Amino acid sequence: MTTKNPGTDAGTSTGDPYREVLREAFVRRYEEGADSWSEEPAMRELVPLLCTELAAGSSVLDIGAGRGRDAELLLAAGHRVTAVDLVRLPEWQDMARRYGAAASFEVGDFVDMAGGRTYDAAVDNGVLHHQDPAGYAQYLANVRRRLRPGGLLAVSLFTTAEGLAEGVLNRAEDGRLSRWFSEREATELLAGAGFTVTAVRTVRRELPGLAYLLVLARRDA
Ligand SMILES: C[S@@+](CC[C@H](N)C(=O)[O-])C[C@H]1O[C@@H](n2cnc3c(N)ncnc32)[C@H](O)[C@@H]1O
Repeated sequence: MTTKNPGTDAGTSTGDPYREVLREAFVRRYEEGADSWSEEPAMRELVPLLCTELAAGSSVLDIGAGRGRDAELLLAAGHRVTAVDLVRLPEWQDMARRYGAAASFEVGDFVDMAGGRTYDAAVDNGVLHHQDPAGYAQYLANVRRRLRPGGLLAVSLFTTAEGLAEGVLNRAEDGRLSRWFSEREATELLAGAGFTVTAVRTVRRELPGLAYLLVLARRDA
């Protein structure tokens, strides 16, 4: 296969139909260099929000790390990061070399990550809103399982600049689902999964009318 992004590793098949659709869609976007989110300024507002409550030298799980833009910010700030993604990206190699034992990388679905390690914090920047809504509770239960009690979760979700009364679910041509959230829905979803929301911010995107809903929450005991 010829790609514009040699070094991208498509990972292994999961056998789950939607997870397979999602993996293939992201593999294609990275291979084609169509991952506009990697360079989008509004995407880089989540880690600074997390850092308002993150203690020095914390361990952070970066779920769906992509090219590692957030992992890099966290590593540069002195935290330890485990980055996991459906796709292995070429940038990981350089980060592993520069940050040594502070950085580790896993390719695969984060739900299937090996080991029972827990973290001080987790970053979910643009991942939850692409999962199958029927699986949100299970997904968040897995996030919770990976956090110590009191651990922080920073999540970025699609929303609109003016806010939404109700959420919207879209399916792209490649089958990838995208869910737009209202603040109330996001807060209730996290509360139902055993988290207490501590901060919410809306960050406007360059695309007219669109925004990200940034939510910071703590795992209940
Ligand atoms: C919109 S991109 C965001 C990438 C990165 N967080 C960033 O800020 O640039 C979503 C990423 O999540 C990954 N992803 C989606 N579902 C995943 C899952 N269940 N487990 C691991 N990675 C996942 C995709 O491969 C993709 O790299």
